[in-house]
Amino acid sequence: MALPPSLALPPVVQTARWIVRPTALLDKARAECGDVVSLNFFPAGRFILTSDPADVRRLFTAPPDDVPTATANSPIGPLVGEHSLLTLNGREHLRQRKLLLPSFHGDRLRAYGEIIDAAAHAQIDTWQPGAEMRLQPHMSAVTLEVILRAVFGVEDAARHQALRAAIEDLILFTASPKAIFSAIVGTQQGRLVGPLKHKTAAMDALLYDEIASHRSHGALEEREDILSLMMCAQDEDGNGMTDIELRDELVTLLLAGHETTATSLSWAMERLLRTPHALARLTDDPGDDAYLDAVIHETLRARPVVPIVGRTLRVPIMFGEFEIPAGAFAGASLYGTNHNPAVYDEPQAFRPERFLDRKPDTYAWIPFGGGVRRCIGAAFAQMEMKIILRAMLTRARLEAVDPTPERVRRRNITFVPEHGTMVRVGAVDRAPAKREPVTA
Ligand code: HEM
Repeated sequence: MALPPSLALPPVVQTARWIVRPTALLDKARAECGDVVSLNFFPAGRFILTSDPADVRRLFTAPPDDVPTATANSPIGPLVGEHSLLTLNGREHLRQRKLLLPSFHGDRLRAYGEIIDAAAHAQIDTWQPGAEMRLQPHMSAVTLEVILRAVFGVEDAARHQALRAAIEDLILFTASPKAIFSAIVGTQQGRLVGPLKHKTAAMDALLYDEIASHRSHGALEEREDILSLMMCAQDEDGNGMTDIELRDELVTLLLAGHETTATSLSWAMERLLRTPHALARLTDDPGDDAYLDAVIHETLRARPVVPIVGRTLRVPIMFGEFEIPAGAFAGASLYGTNHNPAVYDEPQAFRPERFLDRKPDTYAWIPFGGGVRRCIGAAFAQMEMKIILRAMLTRARLEAVDPTPERVRRRNITFVPEHGTMVRVGAVDRAPAKREPVTA
């Protein structure tokens, strides 16, 4: 049986377009090939992608052993470690996921509202009226603070500062060309090399310190941070997580949850600043929960930060009329599915109203992927976005420096705003009235 159609472009050109204008490549692929397309990347090879919710459902509900994640062999593997949820497959993945899931349950999440709110307001306090700035680094600072406090539970000021510095140093390095080289060599050797190795070791030493401090603190069941919850969790045989497992999951939660949420927040503001009626509605009433939720759903639809998720097929799977053979590297286009014109009218338009009277569909709205690998932090991230957006809309007047929409740029595997959401700060409310209890 024939494979899905591919673009009439050599692999090097497809790769170059993916690097420079990724959404233009995905839009062209849909226009010329339809919902199912073979992309050919150099040197990675063929990647078959679907944007049809029916195929997405088939992929996400397939037995996990038939469609293992492709992340295990990616450059992120050596960094997050072999016990990470991102790299494990099969029984081990499910065991680890079960240990982590209770920490992300709705009831637990409410405990983090105050931490998120405090981090957002502390950041807004630093903003100066008249300043022009990229919003993205400010959002990254807030989401990192949230991870340090809500996930790692770091209370000691010196360790907090040291860990923050080590993480920022590592993350800054991962964005450099040197890091890409280290990652390629490291992926081939299955281990970290060069500066990536040393910077990760510096962070790890502090993480193991924090784990030891949690253990010596005792009374873990009284603490609310996710590290404490993970340390209390036990599998069906009564086994808890080892220090190495805890370290790998902490790094996983950091890498999976920090920049993704910060970038989604930057996109939310980028879109709002170019959609005056939506901005006015929220500025007039930041407490309008239903509309704020709709803005978040629409942001994650229109600007999914992770554009595609991949699986390595162990059995053939049908995508539309095409039988994709075992051994193929296949996946869901989160961007393509979220923009499927058969599901969304005018998919390129930013229109929060579409989510006012309908809930996002499990297989047609997929910014968090799906199935047993669906983002474990999806509820956490949406709650975090809501609290931080509300704090910004309540206290600061922001405007776009340039009203032209920011284009989508690719950074590693994520889609970010080209200029990091450039804003001009107007008035900042310096003495916000006593805040309502934080709800998400
Ligand atoms: C808006 C923010 C976020 C977005 C867009 C996002 C997106 C994603 C996506 C697309 C996946 C892959 C799903 C798949 O393969 O089907 C994923 C996995 C994951 N995410 Fe998120 N994520 C976000 C925030 C977070 C947060 C806040 C955390 C935790 C603090 C987190 C932790 C994880 C973990 C642990 C996985 C691996 C799950 C597994 O393989 O079982 N993410 N995320």
